[in-house]
Amino acid sequence: MSELTNVRNMVISCTNCDLCKSRTNAVPGIGNEESDVIFVGEAPGRNEDLQGKPFVGTAGQILSEALEYAGFSRDEVYITNVVKCRPPNNRQPQAEERSSCKPYLSKELEIINPKIICILGNTAYNSLLDGSAITKNRGKVIKNKDKLYFVTVHPAAVIYNPSLRQVLKDDFVSLAGILDKLRKGINVEY
Ligand code: URA
Repeated sequence: MSELTNVRNMVISCTNCDLCKSRTNAVPGIGNEESDVIFVGEAPGRNEDLQGKPFVGTAGQILSEALEYAGFSRDEVYITNVVKCRPPNNRQPQAEERSSCKPYLSKELEIINPKIICILGNTAYNSLLDGSAITKNRGKVIKNKDKLYFVTVHPAAVIYNPSLRQVLKDDFVSLAGILDKLRKGINVEY
């Protein structure tokens, strides 16, 4: 069994926090285990909870559209969330829920060991880098403890602010360019 399958199985049967009581399905990450980029969102919503897969609802459609625009295919990348179970009524995950779920994200990052981690929105920013500084750091590369992060808005933000649709697409185009450089061993600015 692959290490990532192990993590998936642990996520699916996890009872570490109360979110397990209200979920339909836990939602492990999905995609290419050898991807050199991982996209990290917040937590599953209703459709994700029903299907057991990340980013399959409206925010997922926006994510897919922006990925395609920048030349990424969903199969080629790895997509996951900070919290693997849906918080009731899609409220933001609480600090204890984030911290009890954090080992799964850490394991996914350790096993896949991507060249860059794409932070989608404030919850992922806060869990991976501390603070919530999307507005200040959007479109930037941040190096922290030997890992590279690229910061952008959460796809669901586009639902409330349609002008962010193009921002997300353009950010993914920048990310694709950065990844291309990293693959060629060219230094990127951060
Ligand atoms: N929002 C997220 O952060 N993750 C999902 O999987 C779906 C919506």
